[in-house]
Amino acid sequence: MPAKPQIAIVGPGRLGGALSFALTAAGYRVSEVISRVTPSSQKRARDIARKTRSFSTTLKTANLKSDLIWFCVPDREIARAARALIPSAEWKGKVAFHSSGALASGELNVLRRRGAAVASVHPMMTFVRGSIPSLKGVAFALEGDAKAIRLARKITRDLGGDAFPISKVDKIAYHAWGGFGSPLLVAMLVTAERVAKAAGLSAAQARKIMMPIVRQTLANYIALGPAAAFSGPIVRGDVSIVRKHMRKLRKIPRAKEVYVALARAAMQYLPSRNRKELGKILAL
Ligand SMILES: NC(=O)c1ccc[n+]([C@@H]2O[C@H](COP(=O)([O-])OP(=O)(O)OC[C@H]3O[C@@H](n4cnc5c(N)ncnc54)[C@H](OP(=O)(O)O)[C@@H]3O)[C@@H](O)[C@H]2O)c1
Repeated sequence: MPAKPQIAIVGPGRLGGALSFALTAAGYRVSEVISRVTPSSQKRARDIARKTRSFSTTLKTANLKSDLIWFCVPDREIARAARALIPSAEWKGKVAFHSSGALASGELNVLRRRGAAVASVHPMMTFVRGSIPSLKGVAFALEGDAKAIRLARKITRDLGGDAFPISKVDKIAYHAWGGFGSPLLVAMLVTAERVAKAAGLSAAQARKIMMPIVRQTLANYIALGPAAAFSGPIVRGDVSIVRKHMRKLRKIPRAKEVYVALARAAMQYLPSRNRKELGKILAL
């Protein structure tokens, strides 16, 4: 295996695009970007290939000369894409990664059985269209065959990330945890926008006005820890204010559910006063 092996990316989506750019910037050659056989998927692969000076192919035309094949397809498609690519290569000696946070390297067993070393390599980062995050300092959870893990560690280092081992059995909990760091955080913020509407503010205004407090809260949480970063009526034990919130939120039932769930978590995991009375108010 060369020090910087050639890499084929399967799946020209959010992760596949961002990873192709990051790998190229780190001195790796992305040899091909493999898409589905649909015009939109092929176009996405062509766009990434143009920007990374590689080639775009499909599951049918893939020309797997690369040493490493990195599956960046949705979790439910990993095993299927691996099966589709069986005839495209002599798998003995190759390495294959997928990047599911929830699923283990066993999703690539069809390739493992044919002699490939396989691993799951999950960056704890969010990749969305229209934004390419830096991978500097990003944790990559690794699990799989020793040879594949060695290569994943090196690539993670070259990308500026920090590799750490995860066991198969811990992956689901790990992934559920990660959900709180981004998708559920966004869900919480979009719920907050609905509450802002009840105060007469548009979603755009709410985002602009909330930004400084959200940023400062994250900075405080990181620098000072959760208890010291926690302010508001629950830590003050301000029962009458929480009661008023609950009344007002009756008109926005989903937001009320979120408020109650988070307030209960706060009472369990964070400092709070007047817990008994607050507990009664927060019983749905
Ligand atoms: N996005 C994130 O924040 C993030 C973070 C960490 C890990 N991951 C992991 O990265 C993987 C990809 O997620 P994503 O968010 O990048 O998904 P995505 O944006 O939906 O991209 C998936 C890509 O795979 C293509 N595809 C689907 N089925 C395929 C198949 N059978 N063969 C070949 N290509 C196929 C899709 O084709 P079309 O172009 O036709 O849709 C699309 O281009 C998942 O395992 C996910 O868990 C994602």
